Amino acid sequence: MSITAVLLAILILLLTITWIYLNRFSSYVQSLGIPVERRIHWQMHKTNFRAWMDNCLSKYGNLWVDYTATLPSIFVADPNIIKEIMVKHFDHFPNRINFGIEDQHTSLIDARDDKWSVVRKALSPTFTSGKLKGMTAYMGKIVDNMLDHLEAKLQNDPIIDVKQVFQCLSLDTIANCAFGIDINSFQDSENVLFKRSNQAFSDLRFKDMAENVLMHLLNAFPFLFNFLDAYGKENYAFLRDTTKSIVKRRAAPRGDFIDRLKELSEDSTAHGLSEEMIMAQGIGFFIAGFETSSNTMSTLSYHLAMNTQVQDKIYAEICSVMENHNGNIDHESTNEMVYMEAAIEENLRLCPPVTKLDRECKKDITIGNVFFKKGVQVAFPIWSMHHNPDLFPDPEEFRPERFLKGSQEQIQPFSYIPFGGGPRKCIGMRFAMVEMKIALAKLLIKYKIINEPGKTKLNFNPGDPFFLSYSQVFVRLEERT
Ligand code: HEM
Repeated sequence: MSITAVLLAILILLLTITWIYLNRFSSYVQSLGIPVERRIHWQMHKTNFRAWMDNCLSKYGNLWVDYTATLPSIFVADPNIIKEIMVKHFDHFPNRINFGIEDQHTSLIDARDDKWSVVRKALSPTFTSGKLKGMTAYMGKIVDNMLDHLEAKLQNDPIIDVKQVFQCLSLDTIANCAFGIDINSFQDSENVLFKRSNQAFSDLRFKDMAENVLMHLLNAFPFLFNFLDAYGKENYAFLRDTTKSIVKRRAAPRGDFIDRLKELSEDSTAHGLSEEMIMAQGIGFFIAGFETSSNTMSTLSYHLAMNTQVQDKIYAEICSVMENHNGNIDHESTNEMVYMEAAIEENLRLCPPVTKLDRECKKDITIGNVFFKKGVQVAFPIWSMHHNPDLFPDPEEFRPERFLKGSQEQIQPFSYIPFGGGPRKCIGMRFAMVEMKIALAKLLIKYKIINEPGKTKLNFNPGDPFFLSYSQVFVRLEERT
């Protein structure tokens, strides 16, 4: 046999193996009996994933399979099945999908299996009720910094981009309450921590064709993660090293996140975590604490500008609660601002910062009539569920009353999941709610948020499969007299 024939035979063999490998889920997908969406997203950087999910939901109903490259993703919009996956059968779905993030950059968000349980258990005491209560004074001071900044800024122009203002607020709040460091991003929004946290988040969006191709390649051949930078390692390394240096500098305990990391690092015999991975936990707190709450506060400003009657009701509630609390805005008084809380919840329904969540199936299991095979991805289209008229009548209407006692009970469990659910539910949920309530109360007591025609709008960026991505939200702020 000639050398050419041998090479040709090897090539054919390799191509056959690759073809079999790439199609390993093909007969499984066919056997599922669920509609299959076969469109390959070649233009992910231009795709409006929310519209795509809405379209699939109305075309196929509560279950469909996105079988684009080689790994199927089963989309589940049925709240009952979601509950089974997130809670009852958590041991079959303990992880989110794997982005090949190395240990040294793996925070709680990407941690898997036993490592995740060690870290989650260690970090959970960061936001107990007692701790949150102690944090509200710090939160209040940071909101005061924001108000000072706004006062100066509004002298030049009453129309401002609230997105950037709330990003500064979120970063300073998480830096102070969890890391114990004092920064004032309002005075210096060019600071490197701000820039890196911002980049680490926005790097998760597809920005061009090359990233599009890269994602398909990684999906097909996960071993390529070892050679390619799929998530912006430089930003992650910066946030990890910043955490490390804060831990090192910590002298007296404050009972916060940094103390938890110190304990974990001193107790190296009790778990299999590397020192690098312990310090990487700062990445998750910086990224998640930075973008999600500011994203919510900005879309909320938009909705309050557009729904003045809701804004007036919140303002009246703030005034009346403050009167009973000697004019204080703190943990106790914000607890009584139930209409405001309902407005935040309604905003999280209409504009959830996390638009799609996922899990990976670890062991074969049948739930309802669906057979989930080990290795398949499961996706929950949060955005489309929150906008589904079968779950939320008149879904496009901003109506906080849905979340008040008397109506709230009618919301089907696991149809509203802006913070996810089950043991992997957002660890910062209560922290975020307190932070947003204090900020909103202090802001609305001083200013009216007003729609500036032509400028006040929500313009979402394409190319983001997981997050509600947008650059700016402009509103007019008018001082109350
Ligand atoms: C409005 C604000 C926020 C929203 C909407 C939000 C949303 C979410 C969602 C949807 C998840 C995934 C849950 C799941 O898979 O079931 C999550 C996880 C997480 N969030 Fe948040 N989040 C917010 C604020 C925060 C804050 C302030 C922090 C700061 C510490 C934080 C830290 C985390 C972490 C570390 C995880 C991973 C938890 C785990 O896998 O165990 N989040 N968040």
